[in-house]
Amino acid sequence: MRLLALHGSPRKGGNTELLLQEALRGAQEEGAQVELLLLNELDIRGCQDCGGCTETGQCVIQDDMELIYPLIRSCHRILLTSPIFFLGVSAQLKAVVDRCQAFWCEKYLLKRPIPQPPEGRRGLFITVGGMHWAEGLKCSEATVRAFFRSISVPEHHCLGYLGADALGAIRQHPTALKEAYEAGKKLVKGGKG
Ligand SMILES: Cc1cc2nc3c(=O)[nH]c(=O)nc-3n(C[C@H](O)[C@H](O)[C@H](O)COP(=O)(O)O)c2cc1C
Repeated sequence: MRLLALHGSPRKGGNTELLLQEALRGAQEEGAQVELLLLNELDIRGCQDCGGCTETGQCVIQDDMELIYPLIRSCHRILLTSPIFFLGVSAQLKAVVDRCQAFWCEKYLLKRPIPQPPEGRRGLFITVGGMHWAEGLKCSEATVRAFFRSISVPEHHCLGYLGADALGAIRQHPTALKEAYEAGKKLVKGGKG
C-alpha cells in the first residue's frame, strides 16, 4: 500500500510535523510504504493559468511538480498536513493543489479520471491553527475537499486543531497526537479515521 505524504509547514519541529510523525507511525505499523515530501524544500511555482493543461491534462511548467504528479497518480493513500495560514492552507501546499488543475482537466474535460486501484484511494488531512477561529478549519477543509475530488480520492477524513500556536504546543493537547496516530492507522486499514 503506497502512501504519499505531503507536508505543508515550513516550521521545523512544528505542530503539524508532530502530528504528521504520529500519523505516519500509525500508517507504517499497518504496512504502508511511505513517501514523504517536505514541500517547503521543493521548487514549486504557482499555477500560471496558461491553459497548457487544458487539452492534454499535462502541466507545461518544469519544476518539482514533475516529481509529484506520478506519485499522486500512483498512490493508494494520501496524507496532507498543513498549518492554517490566513484561514487557509499554507502557500506551500496551495501551490501543489493549484498545480493539480492538470488532473482537474484530465478528469473533467478529458473524461479520464485517475483509475481506482483495488485498494481504493483514500485521503487524510491534518491541520493546526494558532487561533480559536473555526473559519480556518472550514476554509482549509473546503480547499482540500476540492483537491481530493480532482485527484480522484473519493473518501477522506479531516483532523483539525485550533489554539496551538507556539512550536510544539500541540503536545499539550489531551488527544491530538493519539488521534493522529489512530487516523494514520485507519487511513491504511480502513474505517472512519
Ligand atoms: C503567516 C501565518 C498565518 C497564520 N494564520 C493563521 C490563521 O489564519 N488562523 C490560525 O488559527 N492560525 C494562524 N497562524 C498560526 C499557525 O497556524 C500556528 O502557529 C500553527 O501551529 C503552525 O503550525 P506548524 O507549527 O505546523 O507550522 C498563522 C501563522 C502564520 C506564520
